[in-house]
Amino acid sequence: MCMVIFAPLFAIFAFATCGGYSGQLRVSVDCVNKTDSNLSIGINFAYPFRLHQVFFNAPLCQGKKQEQLFLIGDYSSSAEFFVTIAVFAFLYSLLATVVYIFFQNKYRENNRGPLIDFIMTVVFSFLWLVSSSAWAKGLSDVKVATDPDEVQLLMTACKVQANKCGSVHGPIWSGLNTSVVFGFLNFVLWAGNIWFVFKETGWHKSGQRYPSGASEKQAGGFNQQPYNQGSFGQSGGLSGQGDLGQQSSYSQVGGYAPTGPTSFANQM
Ligand SMILES: *[C@@H]1O[C@H](CO)[C@@H](O)[C@H](O)[C@H]1NC(C)=O
Ligand SMILES: *[C@@H]1O[C@H](CO)[C@@H](O)[C@H](O)[C@H]1NC(C)=O
Repeated sequence: MCMVIFAPLFAIFAFATCGGYSGQLRVSVDCVNKTDSNLSIGINFAYPFRLHQVFFNAPLCQGKKQEQLFLIGDYSSSAEFFVTIAVFAFLYSLLATVVYIFFQNKYRENNRGPLIDFIMTVVFSFLWLVSSSAWAKGLSDVKVATDPDEVQLLMTACKVQANKCGSVHGPIWSGLNTSVVFGFLNFVLWAGNIWFVFKETGWHKSGQRYPSGASEKQAGGFNQQPYNQGSFGQSGGLSGQGDLGQQSSYSQVGGYAPTGPTSFANQM
């Protein structure tokens, strides 16, 4: 049940925080000739972090002349990979929920539903781990590439000692940090769910010989026997009158002995 609620929700958090991101940094170039300065150069960037396409104008500190500069790096592959996995995980978890709730019979048919669910859960766990790791690495690179101190190194004017370059503010990272956290949370959630989906397949029981390890379906069958015996015994004892009462009291005595251990075994 946890999976049903949290998997789509966590997936939404992961791709919304990453895919919806836009950030800004701001640097200042204080030229020797103050009139040439620009103390507030804003640089905007956003998902999917093709930073090599992000450009801005910086003063050259030689009159009104400016240069056009580009940030460095393209981190779209890891960012897009992450968001794609998150979107597909969201869609799959929704689909699985719908199938599980509304098409139980089809889901159980030939054990096909649990089998597919198991494989998909393993695959998505793996993809969450890979894409979150890739995106965590991508994000740390994005942080370096958009660090105002790094951006200053790109500007020609800042290579002249006399001009003072500084950072006004860096980008806010909380949204993207959250996306990485949710990426790994999703991995934990899906990987943890492998066990529960695995139980649905019934594979772990086929190797065992004890009724206690029998599958839910089988266990249901096993349970029926002692329960029925018990209820026969009880009803016989309660409504026991005349011949029937004697008979049922025998079955009661006989019923208790095997019922006890079996039901214990089933409970364990
Ligand atoms: C400042 O700029 C003016 C012209 O724009 C120039 O004549 C002067 O030499 C510059 N001063 C410095 C210190 O570079
Ligand atoms: C400084 O740069 C910004 C772009 O980041 C530009 O909009 C602004 O006009 C510039 N200011 C001056 C004084 O050139």
